[in-house]
Amino acid sequence: GKDGYRHYMDKELHEHPLVIGQTLQRMIDPATRRVVLPELPFDLATIPRITVTACGSAFYAGLIGRYWLEAEARIPVDADVASELRYREPPLSKGGLGLMISQSGETADTLAALRSLRAGGQHVMSILNVPESTMARESDIVLDTIAGPEICVASTKAFTAQLSVLACLAIAIGRARGVIGEAREMELVQALLDLPSRAVELFGLGDDIRAAAAIIAEARDVLYLGRGSHFPVALEGALKLKEISYIHAEAYAAGEMKHGPIALIDKSVPVVASAPSGPLFEKTASNLQEAQARGGRLLVFTDPAGAARMGKIAERLVVLPEVHGFTAPILHSIAVQMLAYEVALLKGTDVDQPRNLAKSVTVE
Ligand code: F6R
Repeated sequence: GKDGYRHYMDKELHEHPLVIGQTLQRMIDPATRRVVLPELPFDLATIPRITVTACGSAFYAGLIGRYWLEAEARIPVDADVASELRYREPPLSKGGLGLMISQSGETADTLAALRSLRAGGQHVMSILNVPESTMARESDIVLDTIAGPEICVASTKAFTAQLSVLACLAIAIGRARGVIGEAREMELVQALLDLPSRAVELFGLGDDIRAAAAIIAEARDVLYLGRGSHFPVALEGALKLKEISYIHAEAYAAGEMKHGPIALIDKSVPVVASAPSGPLFEKTASNLQEAQARGGRLLVFTDPAGAARMGKIAERLVVLPEVHGFTAPILHSIAVQMLAYEVALLKGTDVDQPRNLAKSVTVE
């Protein structure tokens, strides 16, 4: 049941901290605090390239994973939605790794992509929430997300569980390839282990998130912006808003705004940004300033170190707890999902059962 929550989505949003903790527990040895993977039928150190594929939110998890794998493991990563991957006929490296991500393990496009990657000689690793699913049976190795059943059609907790696995995988591959030393691994593992308690703190931000939601609920179109690993956070925020509030939203890499979408900006098009402090912060802030100068109403998710700078331009700030830059996209993903939920409440939509959508898409 809903355990007293108004919707499954609300219940599942509140399960983020637990689900992240449980999923990490599977992958981090409590004694050594190092990432441990199940035994693999291939050598992680010699994989030449990874092809990540999935659909919808699971694909956005994969895009965040790509930033981690490239930056921390220095491995080439190709990522595409499953429904496109096969038709691109990408040249595959011999002995490469196909990395599939799916909550249900039954999504037809992802399953078809799995089969074509296997036919192309790739090892198949799948990050799945349903261990007895079709994709589980057809994979060489499954990394489990311990998210429990997800009832709400729009994915929430499965997404952060997927991110938790991807973060651990990037660390494991980085170590296998000799690019992550012990100190860096400890630092990243600590950042991950800190997440459940930081995620609990998000639930104290309801008033700020509702104030931002009230502005979005009046809009017909919304832009979501982010840079680096926060660009996929923007994609996730925009998808969730579309799915459950039926408000049109589009996500752009913050630096792309000036190449076109800025023409849309006026006071009727709110701009949501995921912009934690860090190396990309100032660039994002100046992109946002351009939007603000054109009358855009900015709703900015940042952290304590970014609050002063963003406070000068944003109409609404949501100040998330300070976390390591590596794990910030996980925390920000939860926040943009919470925002979509609050907007849907204001719109009075059927949050758990959005029109035209099914939980598991078993046709290609
Ligand atoms: C978004 C959403 C969908 C799924 C997508 C993949 O909220 O729920 O975009 O993420 O249909 O589904 P799975 O993960 O079951 O393969």
